[in-house]
Amino acid sequence: MRPTVNKKLELDTPCLVLDLDILEHNIHKMQATVTRAGKSLRPHAKTHKCSALARMQLEAGAIGVCAAKLSEAEALVEAGLDDILITGPVVTPYKLERLVGLAGRSPSLKVVLDHADNVTLLDRKLGERGLSMGVLLDLDVGLHRTGVKPSKALALANGIIASPNLRLLGVQAYAGQAQHIRSYAARKDTSLHCLQDAVDIFRELRTRVPTCISLSTSGTGTFDIDLEIEEISELQVGSYVLMDTEYLDIGSASSPAHFAVFEPALRLLTTVVSASHTDFVTVDAGLKSLYRDGGIPRLAGPAPAALEYTWFGDEYGMIRATGDSPLPAPGTVLELLVSHCDPTVNLFNDYYLTRGGEVVGSWPIDLRGCSQ
Ligand SMILES: Cc1ncc(COP(=O)(O)O)c(C=O)c1O
Repeated sequence: MRPTVNKKLELDTPCLVLDLDILEHNIHKMQATVTRAGKSLRPHAKTHKCSALARMQLEAGAIGVCAAKLSEAEALVEAGLDDILITGPVVTPYKLERLVGLAGRSPSLKVVLDHADNVTLLDRKLGERGLSMGVLLDLDVGLHRTGVKPSKALALANGIIASPNLRLLGVQAYAGQAQHIRSYAARKDTSLHCLQDAVDIFRELRTRVPTCISLSTSGTGTFDIDLEIEEISELQVGSYVLMDTEYLDIGSASSPAHFAVFEPALRLLTTVVSASHTDFVTVDAGLKSLYRDGGIPRLAGPAPAALEYTWFGDEYGMIRATGDSPLPAPGTVLELLVSHCDPTVNLFNDYYLTRGGEVVGSWPIDLRGCSQ
């Protein structure tokens, strides 16, 4: 086993590093903005997959967390967290058994529903165990991934209301298609337009069902836009806490070409392992440590700005100099901003925590691989 390392650039690579100063900045900035708007924050743990980080978000004021999958929720409950919303449908009898078992351990657990069959099955399974559960109606606001169509939403809601073991707590409306639109103005138009269905349906249900008080929505790209919508009660943002180049490169309210609100807390360290060519060197981070989505990872930290990463197979990447910049020597550790944070995080077991150049701890990525 490797001895404890105190300096960031002495960590074994490839590895993931969290800059705690930036992480805290992102957490507090989002929380303060949401609180100031009179809303609640329920950050999505699918991004960081780490119960210790979720706990930090809760300590900063979040009311609960989101999980994408049942197995993520199970890991969060195992870690002692509660008030978890599972944001995707859980439909098979096997998983519903597990869901109901988890609800027995964690009574504040909530799940979304988007189909009448699912309503019937979940209600029956809960009844068999003498339990009840809070649910949100998952509304399709244009992403078409999950969610009931707006035209069928009230019929589905009626089915939930009529189910003795289900409590309708609200509506979930995630407009994933809006999140990465580059122009802030176009993103604003899209988000406000597609969330109108959610607002109308939520209003109608709120007047009929006393427990229906939650309109849970939003992602990092539209967080400030959606806060303007009066009916929205909670934001389920995820990526803001870590950030990636896919998000850094969209416009924001104050900057047309840069998302100038949150900073990249997540870094991947990689080492130059071969330097036999005049125009590039090879580093030890490839497709098995960087998810290939959302563009190309970008050099950060003290590296010259004129160095560029290119994909170079499963285990390796290529670093080219774009100008006259000298190429780094073998053994040099470079810092990358990742292109898409969620699936990259899922490739690692741990985060190393740093302040400045010092390593101050580590957190297990305990929800890693929880894709079921
Ligand atoms: C249902 C749901 N809610 C919220 C989020 C958070 O979005 P973001 O990471 O863009 O903040 C996601 C991300 O995919 C999601 O699927």
